[in-house]
Amino acid sequence: MLTVRVPGDKSLSQRALILAALADGESRLSGVLPGGDAESTAGALRALGADIPALPRDGAEIVVRGSGLRGLRAPDGPLDLGNSGTGTRLLAGVLAGAGLMATLDGDASLRSRPMERITAPLRAMGATFEHPGAPGRLPMTVRGSHPLQPLQWTSPVASAQVKSSLLLAGLTGQAFVLVTEPRRSRDHTERLLGAVGAAVVSHATAGGWRVELRDPPERIGPLDFAVPGDISSAAFVLALAALGGARAGVTVEGVGLNPTRTAFLGVLQRMGARVRVEPSSAPGACEPVGDVTVEAGMLRATDVGADEVPSLIDELPLVAALGARAQGVTRIRGAGELRAKESDRIATMVANLRAVGVEAEEEPDGLTVRGGEGPLRGRVRAFHDHRIAMTFGVLGRLPGSDIEVDDPGVADVSFPGFAALLQQLGGP
Ligand code: S3P
Repeated sequence: MLTVRVPGDKSLSQRALILAALADGESRLSGVLPGGDAESTAGALRALGADIPALPRDGAEIVVRGSGLRGLRAPDGPLDLGNSGTGTRLLAGVLAGAGLMATLDGDASLRSRPMERITAPLRAMGATFEHPGAPGRLPMTVRGSHPLQPLQWTSPVASAQVKSSLLLAGLTGQAFVLVTEPRRSRDHTERLLGAVGAAVVSHATAGGWRVELRDPPERIGPLDFAVPGDISSAAFVLALAALGGARAGVTVEGVGLNPTRTAFLGVLQRMGARVRVEPSSAPGACEPVGDVTVEAGMLRATDVGADEVPSLIDELPLVAALGARAQGVTRIRGAGELRAKESDRIATMVANLRAVGVEAEEEPDGLTVRGGEGPLRGRVRAFHDHRIAMTFGVLGRLPGSDIEVDDPGVADVSFPGFAALLQQLGGP
């Protein structure tokens, strides 16, 4: 059995940096992802005047001296968010409520992603947006307002980025916010806001899942937080183990086990892998953490539907890849949001699976993959999408595979060291 660790959680790293910058006092953060997306958000916060130290490669503790909820200032030039959709959408909310003006921009992938989902509700709160390039896309200039108007919003998509953008706008803009999403998305922002003294109330409703920031505080306290390993990065290692591509079973230590993120472990299990989860955090910890062990099994196909999608949205490319090596036909449905990720992951997964000899079909809201045993060979494209590159990195490690990924370096945005870790896991 091999034991490994993965870099800090991408979602939590960016949220922790933002809240630490907005806090009164000194926050202590360890395990922050030293990868492209967290670097982009840290860089944007520095340009807004926040005192964010360099992110250590080894996840060592950093101390962030917060500027307070009203302490950020307008930047001198455009903010470059690189590939980070989370950084862009969360900071747009922060700026909207802080009454600041800034232009947000990013790489070709980020420039292709939809922003109306946040600009429509943030406009309703009193902020204004301009899109000097394509309508509804980056570059995007936000002009904030303070205080903002209270908001009651029903989001058509289950998106933690939308929900978090609005909660952060409510925090900096001192406004009541109530968001209803069709299904519950990851709740990291709610948990971290609670930890700094801004309680968010959440509950199920007939229309889905509702979160409320009822009474935004005038200041938030500092954060003392160890960012756990990213379960979405661990998923690549665990999938390789499930596929029998690692020398033995693999344990990933210190990984985040937030129940709004762990559905992939259930999918691995029902497909036939052996999965063991050992929680290690104290009950009631802000974010649950533990060790996950996976050993290979005979894989069978599975169906994933809309109810499961939000809690494994980032792992769906891997579910499709597992389906390509499982007995039967794997169907993913209710996952139209895949088209709004770093690439259109329905189109890019199907194109790449076919390029390596797998039968796969696009559906409007998902994909269908026929499992097989033939060797996987061919050249695939990363499409500026870290998870697409890493998914084919995993398939490329299987016995008999010969897969060339055109741009494997894109993995660095969420998983620096991915290629080296794959080498370390070795083949059978
Ligand atoms: C994220 C939310 C998800 C996820 C992304 C990170 C976050 O996106 O796909 O990788 O940190 O809030 P959506 O909110 O668009 O579903």
